Amino acid sequence: MNLKGKNALITGGGRGLGKAVAVALANEGVNVGITGRNEEHLKSTVAELEKLGVKAAYSVFDVEEMAQVEQGVASIASQLGGIDILINNAGVGDFGSFEDMPVETWEKVMKVNLFGVYYVTKATLPYLKQNKEGDIVNVASTAGLKGGPNMSAYCASKAAVISLSQSLMAELRKFNIRVITLTPSTIATDMSIEGKLTDGNPEKVLQPEDFAEWVRDILKMNRRAMIASASIFSTNP
Ligand SMILES: NC(=O)c1ccc[n+]([C@@H]2O[C@H](COP(=O)([O-])OP(=O)(O)OC[C@H]3O[C@@H](n4cnc5c(N)ncnc54)[C@H](OP(=O)(O)O)[C@@H]3O)[C@@H](O)[C@H]2O)c1
Repeated sequence: MNLKGKNALITGGGRGLGKAVAVALANEGVNVGITGRNEEHLKSTVAELEKLGVKAAYSVFDVEEMAQVEQGVASIASQLGGIDILINNAGVGDFGSFEDMPVETWEKVMKVNLFGVYYVTKATLPYLKQNKEGDIVNVASTAGLKGGPNMSAYCASKAAVISLSQSLMAELRKFNIRVITLTPSTIATDMSIEGKLTDGNPEKVLQPEDFAEWVRDILKMNRRAMIASASIFSTNP
């Protein structure tokens, strides 16, 4: 499918996986609206996207706050002239033992990773329904498929995203909205390198552009076909 002229909203689009997806979609002619809390990252990414010849916009908001989310999504929709594709990518990876992690940190991981996806989807869905078709890509993680030590908050938040995403898929397919649940393994970004999950070696470890090409190709499938869920791994890390 040709994606040219579609409008995509990508949360956490100023760096990491979100930025790589923004660039990959812009290379297909997709207009891109990116969001995050760091305005400098958003501005410089918008400048890069515009150089690729598409319309690009940004909005600064925290996905933890529904009121901010509603305003921010409306702003992107009006700057781009609608939304066809939502990439729920923003997330935090705070790791630590169940006993040592402060209650506030545990709650924040749930708030950003789960409630963030819920709030942004809730605010964006009316725009997709208006178009009578659309795509929602939810970036979960292999960590949501199985719990592990020192990852209880992250794993629980991503397991909840998978479940939310499966329910949405079942509810929305009859409106021609594809809901796609992605469970990537470790990819070299700030999150995984600062979290000491990988050294990010490009010879061995998945890079953001690998993830972005994967998302692009899934979106390009004929609209009659929907990848409901999928994982990606480094071959031999
Ligand atoms: N890297 C991996 O190995 C890996 C593996 C599986 C899944 N994932 C998932 O992939 C997604 C992207 O991760 P990444 O590796 O690209 O991480 P990253 O480099 O740390 O980037 C995180 C992004 O999320 C945004 N963000 C974080 N908290 C936010 C908040 N409260 N409100 C709004 N935006 C917020 C950040 O934007 P600002 O800095 O502008 O706020 C940033 O753009 C996450 O959902 C992550 O859980 C990553």
